[in-house]
Amino acid sequence: MSKNQASHLVIVVGAGPAGMAVVNTLSRAGRRVVVLNRDIKFGGLAEYGIFPNKHRLKGGLKKGYWDILSRENIEYYGNVTVGNDKDMTFSDLQAIGAGALVFATGAQGTKTIGVEGDRANGVYHAKDVVYHYNLLPGFSQRPFELGQRVAVIGIGDVMVDIAHWLIRYKKVKEVTSIARRGPAERKYNPKEIRVVCGNVDRDDLTKEFARIRPRLEAAGQNADTIRSGMLGEMTKCEPAGSETKMRFRFLSSPRRVLTDSKNRVRGLELEDTRLEPKGEDFAAVGLKTTGEFACDSVIFAVGDRVDETLGLPFKNGSFLTNPNRTQNDPDDSLFQAYDETSGRVIEGVFLAGWARRASEGLVGVAKRDGDWCSEVLERHLATRAPLDAAAVQEKLDRLKRLIEKRQPDAVRKEDLRLLLEMEEEEGKRKGIIEGFKFPTNQQMLAAIRHRKMA
Ligand SMILES: Cc1cc2nc3c(=O)[nH]c(=O)nc-3n(C[C@H](O)[C@H](O)[C@H](O)COP(=O)(O)OP(=O)(O)OC[C@H]3O[C@@H](n4cnc5c(N)ncnc54)[C@H](O)[C@@H]3O)c2cc1C
Ligand SMILES: NC(=O)c1ccc[n+]([C@@H]2O[C@H](COP(=O)([O-])OP(=O)(O)OC[C@H]3O[C@@H](n4cnc5c(N)ncnc54)[C@H](OP(=O)(O)O)[C@@H]3O)[C@@H](O)[C@H]2O)c1
Repeated sequence: MSKNQASHLVIVVGAGPAGMAVVNTLSRAGRRVVVLNRDIKFGGLAEYGIFPNKHRLKGGLKKGYWDILSRENIEYYGNVTVGNDKDMTFSDLQAIGAGALVFATGAQGTKTIGVEGDRANGVYHAKDVVYHYNLLPGFSQRPFELGQRVAVIGIGDVMVDIAHWLIRYKKVKEVTSIARRGPAERKYNPKEIRVVCGNVDRDDLTKEFARIRPRLEAAGQNADTIRSGMLGEMTKCEPAGSETKMRFRFLSSPRRVLTDSKNRVRGLELEDTRLEPKGEDFAAVGLKTTGEFACDSVIFAVGDRVDETLGLPFKNGSFLTNPNRTQNDPDDSLFQAYDETSGRVIEGVFLAGWARRASEGLVGVAKRDGDWCSEVLERHLATRAPLDAAAVQEKLDRLKRLIEKRQPDAVRKEDLRLLLEMEEEEGKRKGIIEGFKFPTNQQMLAAIRHRKMA
């Protein structure tokens, strides 16, 4: 649809899988869409989360997103962070008076599980490590001082990705996944474990099953069936990438990070747990007995939470959405930002993806969430008159002026095109066929300037 027709203006904050799904649907429907993104590059975790060697998946997503962004009715501003005391605030965006404002900013906050010592040297959070090895500016050059015996808290897919990096790239001596529940409650995808299962210490796994057998049986679980199920998923392992021993410690909940006199990690105090049925699932219940687990580094891979400094109403780790259900499918209320103080929906403000439900699901789930959000948003826009082209342009110009004032290094689509070309060429020159990235914003901005001058 042409830029000159009457339309609705929609601002989407965040260009990850959820935000890009919204941008795709709305731009196809002829809306004028402005995307504001913290990172210079689009993609979110598709660019800076998914494991670096998944070239096909990452490349496919990148191409798809670039095709969408190339549409005429979409404006892109990378390197623009929204939030309290950031380049743009929530109120700045509200003041533009767009037809709708979508927050698809992912889960950028750090979830801590509240154990003593979790700020010791050698304790890290998985998101930061993932951003580090995926070369996200701000994290790419941050030192991560890991030892040789690394405890990874959690047994989900992020744990597997971290173990992958530790085993195949860092080649540490030991990686132990610490799970507060049992092996039947492992959350990783059976296919994903193949990349590290060649390193699993099977004798240790046998001993671990013997150790927890009474507690599994007390919960009505069959240790042998679970063990063969777990080992059955480990029959198509990729060849071991190093001498690293990969181990599991089940029914163990971290209570304290133990430190030495220099505040460096020397171990974990783990509380034994048992399984208690909870609906169709099991919950971990602490037994008050504890033991020490020796390790020199700890990485929490327990999921993330949203970044409350974004400026939206927030409670108990999440942004608030409308508690009053609607009859629509998808239910509008689930995507509408809500102000508990006034008891009202924040008119025209929506949430999608991991900003709505932190650490929930794969790219496809985030995309579907963005699609649903778009449906809800379209219902909202249908209640408003479209703006004529001049009114849309006035708002776009006002937004542009404000962004240029607050963030002179905002990166537009034409700059992004140059950057992507430069990265491709630089990758070829360095013999990195796929996935070459400039690791800092300075380098990206310098590359764009250099290209423009050339
Ligand atoms: C380590 C890891 C590996 C994964 N691997 C896979 C995989 O192999 N396959 C798979 O299908 N799924 C994978 N996933 C899941 C997938 O990445 C997520 O489902 C998906 O990226 C969530 O999309 P999102 O758009 O909600 O958030 P994100 O992808 O996090 O995108 C958020 C976007 O918002 C921007 N943003 C954040 N804060 C602000 C702000 N304040 N102002 C402006 N912009 C902001 C960011 O720059 C980013 O572009 C993985 C997840 C993780 C954590
Ligand atoms: N390769 C891939 O496809 C890939 C890679 C990475 C991520 N992802 C996706 O991204 C999403 C997030 O993954 P994730 O691994 O972060 O989350 P996850 O699958 O929910 O796993 C989190 C792990 O942390 C544990 N945990 C949570 N709180 C804890 C606490 N207080 N104390 C101890 N342990 C705690 C959980 O145990 P409980 O089960 O007991 O709560 C669970 O084992 C998932 O949908 C995942 O599939 C996919």
